[in-house]
Amino acid sequence: MTTEELYSTVVLVGLAIAAVTALFGLFVTTPYGRFENKRLGPTVPTRLGWVLMEAPALTFYAFYLGTPHAFEPVPLLFAGIWTLHYANRLVAFPLLMRTREGSRMSVSVFASGWVGVPLHAWLYATWLGELGGLDASWLSSPRLWFGLGLYGLGYGLILHPEHVLRQLRASRTVADDDGYKIPYGGGFRWVSSPHYLGEILAWTGLMAATGCPGGLFIWAITLANLVPRAVATHRWYYRHFEDYPRRRKALIPFLL
Ligand SMILES: NC(=O)c1ccc[n+]([C@@H]2O[C@H](COP(=O)([O-])OP(=O)(O)OC[C@H]3O[C@@H](n4cnc5c(N)ncnc54)[C@H](OP(=O)(O)O)[C@@H]3O)[C@@H](O)[C@H]2O)c1
Repeated sequence: MTTEELYSTVVLVGLAIAAVTALFGLFVTTPYGRFENKRLGPTVPTRLGWVLMEAPALTFYAFYLGTPHAFEPVPLLFAGIWTLHYANRLVAFPLLMRTREGSRMSVSVFASGWVGVPLHAWLYATWLGELGGLDASWLSSPRLWFGLGLYGLGYGLILHPEHVLRQLRASRTVADDDGYKIPYGGGFRWVSSPHYLGEILAWTGLMAATGCPGGLFIWAITLANLVPRAVATHRWYYRHFEDYPRRRKALIPFLL
């Protein structure tokens, strides 16, 4: 089997995983955070759960460094973006997060990361360094700059709401019954989960900028994870706060 054939097969496997995740999401809200459910098997402390879930992102470097174009400028640019993205998700987010006392993440949640994250890492690394043909001429492609712009917008929309949510809690650990408040400002003016919208925009932008077919996998699984969760979160806010802003939508301003 050639690398191209293997690549197409892995993309299809990834899309099948995303479809199963979407189906699963119709019945169960992923058990962490406000939807934590200690009855769904063993759990670990939430902060540790995030690190364990995202740690397989480091496999990217093992895959990438073995590719023939790893040290060319355009692949390096995109490898840098991978690093930027996971520096937040794997290091800054768990380190800075402010959790409720005794907050736990189900083992099934972080274990799912051990399938999806390395798959994504391999698809992205193999495209950048081997199959993508991302030579210096790619720098003059409008598609690259459009995609990077969209990624930048998405990344900002991840970082700012995550910061706003942290500021709602006074310390690194708060009492369980004082855990949640209504967030205001930035993207929260329009939607309940602007960071989820940011995540979707960021991966869409990176897929456009790199032309990476494997980007379809992370895009589909992000939608499968975050669309139902955004809707469930929005409903949760309405149930818990009588004064929750009525005009705010769940995920897409004015629409959903
Ligand atoms: N690509 C993907 O498939 C994917 C999947 C999942 C998540 N993500 C990304 O990972 C990041 C975190 O996701 P998440 O689902 O954990 O987001 P989240 O439910 O909004 O929680 C983020 C942090 O803010 C806290 N928080 C949330 N709402 C709060 C409120 N009203 N008052 C006070 N604190 C609040 C949470 O505490 P608690 O833990 O106590 O609730 C948690 O520490 C997001 O940027 C998301 O886009 C990506």
